[in-house]
Amino acid sequence: ATTLGAAAAEKGRYFGAAVAAGKLSDNTYVTILNREFNSVTPENEMKWDATEPSRGSFNFANADRIVNHARSRGMSVRGHTLAWHSQQPGWAQALSGSSLRSAMVNHITQVATHFRGQIHSWDVVNEAFADGGSGARRDSNLQRTGNDWIEVAFRAARAADPGAKLCYNDYNTDGINAKSTAIYNMVVDFKNRGVPIDYVGFQSHLTNSVPADYQANLQRFANLGVDVQITELDIAGANQAAVYGSVTRSCLAVARCTGITVWGIRDTDYWRVGQNSLLFDGAGNKKPAYTAVLDALNAG
Ligand code: G3I
Repeated sequence: ATTLGAAAAEKGRYFGAAVAAGKLSDNTYVTILNREFNSVTPENEMKWDATEPSRGSFNFANADRIVNHARSRGMSVRGHTLAWHSQQPGWAQALSGSSLRSAMVNHITQVATHFRGQIHSWDVVNEAFADGGSGARRDSNLQRTGNDWIEVAFRAARAADPGAKLCYNDYNTDGINAKSTAIYNMVVDFKNRGVPIDYVGFQSHLTNSVPADYQANLQRFANLGVDVQITELDIAGANQAAVYGSVTRSCLAVARCTGITVWGIRDTDYWRVGQNSLLFDGAGNKKPAYTAVLDALNAG
């Protein structure tokens, strides 16, 4: 196949991009989006600060624009994200304890209900584990409401949109390390106790290389009975094309790796300027990294 989306579809997978509502009027951007991708993730428009800027008052205008653009063209949508320590509205940052907990549950319920039936998979909880070797939860206002906040979030999302797949999403979890193992243990626990979880997302913000045990890490999660997704891929550095090819082959080698999302379209769309870590240059031309991904998708 000659596009990322079509080549991934031939392998039973999707190929997606993070999309910003403000760029849907950019012709070059939209031309690439519509031609190459069959899944989208709103980059910021579904986050708590965007969707509930004041308590109980919801604004879905920008998120709806992205969802409508995608669904009218047959693209699926990854919802990002219902519960996260970052990009919270000021009113939520000022809450704690049971009032924050009930605000979180209400937020999840309202947002997942608004998009009910339209979302392929929700990043229900994002980035809840600490970096480094501790294997601990990240300290945050949500964590301080009680260690059960993650399972409460997943149950609320399942109740509001039973058809959406529910995903736990994090970064620096790309190899087998203390952080990914802590998440692995959480998935084991959730499976044992019947807490709903369908997916684990591996953001895969990489520089120069991918961990040697990347594929083995995806596979150990798949072996628990969850699907895995590469959710925010971008690769900086000189080995970019080769590493993009390697990551793509790893996903294809894991039967339960259902798709890849890159965190933007052109290098100039990336939120941190100057990294040149995406598949298209600023003018919208295909980079060697693009060809490496397409060739990997088409191989075999
Ligand atoms: O909305 C305001 C706007 O009103 C204001 O005028 C402007 C001025 O700076 O800022 C706008 O907010 C920015 C927002 O993006 C929307 O454009 C924030 O400053 C900026 O910090 C924010 O950055 C986002 C970042 O998450 C913040 O956490 C990036 O676009 C987004 O790509 C990035 O995405 C995260 C994923 O959600 C989770 N995983 C990591 C990933 C980044 O690698």
